[in-house]
Amino acid sequence: MTDTTFTPRVFSGIQPSGDLHLGNYLGALKRFADAQDKGVQSIYCMVDLHAITVWQDPADLKKSTRELCAGFIASGIDPNKSILINQSQVPEHAQLAWIFNCVARMGWMGRMTQWKDKAGKNAEAASLGLFAYPALMAADILIYHATHVPVGEDQKQHLELTRDIAAKFNHDYGVDFFPLTEPVIEGAATRVMSLRDGSKKMSKSDPSDASRINLTDDADTIAKKIRKAKTDADALPSEVDGLKDRPEARNLVNIFAALNDQTVEQVLADVGGQQFGTFKPALAELAVSKMGPITQEMSRLMADTAEIDRILAHGATQAREITAPILKKTYEIVGMVG
Ligand code: TYM
Repeated sequence: MTDTTFTPRVFSGIQPSGDLHLGNYLGALKRFADAQDKGVQSIYCMVDLHAITVWQDPADLKKSTRELCAGFIASGIDPNKSILINQSQVPEHAQLAWIFNCVARMGWMGRMTQWKDKAGKNAEAASLGLFAYPALMAADILIYHATHVPVGEDQKQHLELTRDIAAKFNHDYGVDFFPLTEPVIEGAATRVMSLRDGSKKMSKSDPSDASRINLTDDADTIAKKIRKAKTDADALPSEVDGLKDRPEARNLVNIFAALNDQTVEQVLADVGGQQFGTFKPALAELAVSKMGPITQEMSRLMADTAEIDRILAHGATQAREITAPILKKTYEIVGMVG
């Protein structure tokens, strides 16, 4: 669409709705931390307004938001280098979302697989917020004119919609105002699967706790979950091709590679020929050594929630320096008097 050059800026968000798991860590948090020193301004958001599209107990929501902030910091996001916010403290997200509710089409929203999965057969009883969720997500990103959004693979469709909304806004109003954001979906673990079923993604909403590794699990629990993870009876292959049609094996190798900052090829060159009886304990040891310090740091940070609240308040002030002028300009473009 556009000739306008936008300054590179990264935005991403995570819902504070329950425990963080290994998928969130490898698909998102670890990658944010790895990218932090590349000199691009980055904003990371605890999306509390998104969380309430399904019922959240108010006290639990507060705790989860602070815990998520602790998770960001414990994973290596430095609040002095990146902006850390909770969505509700930066009102321009919701204000721009309203404009986007009027840009996005019902048909676009109805095609979102996350809507179909979450609302299921009982769409009549789902909240209006759950249906409109992707317009708020587009606003989260575009209220910063963010150019790059690192996410796991499950968010791809929402990012395509974000581009559609930006393009339609620009087209309808005859402007080059919003960038067409690039999804950044990279690395060995953009889709971490359930430990119980290699065809389902690892998720907070899976009723089986054994299906995921939580960032709050202790070493014994992590080791036990990996030992019990579903696998097949064959030895590990030496080549990537050998993982074809072996989703559980592929998942464990992907997890190993991402935790150890290796490619899948490198891992298989080392472990090819091993049985799971040898590979699983090595994976458990690696997972405990990488995640143990994060869990400990999270609980240390959670002992001082006033400090967490201070970080989020400071982040909101920094964020609003970016979002307020972009909202003002959006209102001008749309024709609001003010
Ligand atoms: P959420 O909270 O479900 O997940 C947060 C991040 O973790 C990634 N992720 C995974 N990655 C790999 N394997 C998995 N099994 C796995 N499960 C989750 C997600 O892809 C995501 O990157 N709609 C978003 C939150 C959001 C957002 C945004 C993201 C709201 N506004 C703007 C980016 C930009 C969500 O529900 O993520």
